[in-house]
Amino acid sequence: MEYNTILFTKENGYAIVQFNRPEVLNALNTQVMNEVVTAFEDCDTDENVGCIILTGNEKAFAAGADIKEMAEANSVEMMKRDNLARWEKIRKIKKPIIAAVSGFALGGGCEVAMACDIIIASESAKFGQPEINIGVMPGAGGTQRLIRAVGKSKAMEMILTGDFISAEDAMQWGLVSKIVPNEFLLDEAKSLAKKIASKAPIAIKMAKESILKSFDTTMEVGLEMERKNFYTLFATEDQKEGMRAFIEKRKPQWKGK
Ligand code: CAA
Repeated sequence: MEYNTILFTKENGYAIVQFNRPEVLNALNTQVMNEVVTAFEDCDTDENVGCIILTGNEKAFAAGADIKEMAEANSVEMMKRDNLARWEKIRKIKKPIIAAVSGFALGGGCEVAMACDIIIASESAKFGQPEINIGVMPGAGGTQRLIRAVGKSKAMEMILTGDFISAEDAMQWGLVSKIVPNEFLLDEAKSLAKKIASKAPIAIKMAKESILKSFDTTMEVGLEMERKNFYTLFATEDQKEGMRAFIEKRKPQWKGK
């Protein structure tokens, strides 16, 4: 597969997917979305990849869906294209995804960051759902994921005013897990990805699955699934290795089996 709108590299057990349309602040057109999802799916089946980083450039993570691509479309065309359903595929990726955000993460850009599992931000990051300013509303998870991240009042305010929030606000409100100076953003993301990729791969996937389940289900069903996943891990060689290594006071050697 040839990628024209993203840069896709793999190193040290993780992959980096970088939006690469700097001239339009990484606006997300159909091609970008297809390429990101294809790269993610490639990572999901590559045993050498334990974690994925999604990033942009210093000025923009992504400034939203490509307004020029959709400005003149009618409702039926939008439904036929159904571009936003592609983002749904991100939810099916089993490996952890870190969004490393610098600059603008707006509209679909904020939404794709929130579809990732961990967001880390640089000091210059700005998050927002400004769709209201162009006569629409979030369409790729903003009304559902933002409220879960920052609560109702703040989500309402962001979506109804279209105002951006700073990295510090995003950090205080629980949208991002850490802020780092701009020049260290990718290094920080890489070291986090490397750490996650060094863990037992099946346990990582099952932990991610269980955490995400909490958004979709009742506490009872979620706890049941968590318990089942915990017991299932005792069928893996890595569980035996991990616990034996602890007892024998040595580093575990994971096999992903
Ligand atoms: N789509 C298409 N092009 C975009 C874009 C977008 N979302 N965001 C920026 N660009 C383009 C601009 O048109 C401009 O291109 P030209 O040089 O050809 O004019 C270029 O990127 C640089 O942008 P600006 O000159 O506007 O840069 P700035 O620094 O002055 O402003 C900004 C930056 C505040 C982010 C401003 O570009 C902006 O408001 N962008 C739009 C943000 C937005 O509304 N996003 C939501 C999109 S809708 C959506 O995402 C729906 C959904 O839920 C999926």
